[in-house]
Amino acid sequence: MANITFSSPSLAKDVTVYAVAGDRGTILAVAKEHKIPIPFDCQDGECGSCLIEVKQLDAQRTHAISLTEKEKEQLRQLGKITAEEIKNAETSDVAPRFRLACQYIVRDEDIIVSFVGDETIP
Ligand code: FES
Repeated sequence: MANITFSSPSLAKDVTVYAVAGDRGTILAVAKEHKIPIPFDCQDGECGSCLIEVKQLDAQRTHAISLTEKEKEQLRQLGKITAEEIKNAETSDVAPRFRLACQYIVRDEDIIVSFVGDETIP
C-alpha cells in the first residue's frame, strides 16, 4: 500500500490517496484519477510541465530509483537535478528532490508530492 499525499497552493487542503495494487501507475495517472490538478501536457517526459517535488516519508526504506533518460534530460534542462543527484540515484538509491509526475511509477512507499499548479479549486 502506498500513501500519496498531494500538496499544492491550488488545493484547498492536502489530499492523501491510498494507492493499492492494481491502482499502480504513474503519479500523474493516480493524480488524474483522484482529480488532483497536477499540470501536464505531453505525458511522455518531454515537456516538463508535470514537475513535482517528492518527499519520502519513510527514509529507512530504500528503493531502486528508476530515472528514464527522458526524465533525466528534462530535469537537467529545467535545472532541477544535478549530475551528483543522478549519480546518487543510480548508484545509492538516493531519491532526487524533483521528478516528473508522468514518469514516476508509484511504488510501495509513503510520499508527499508537492506541485505548484495553475488551477485553483474553490
Ligand atoms: Fe510532459 Fe510530464 S507531462 S513531461
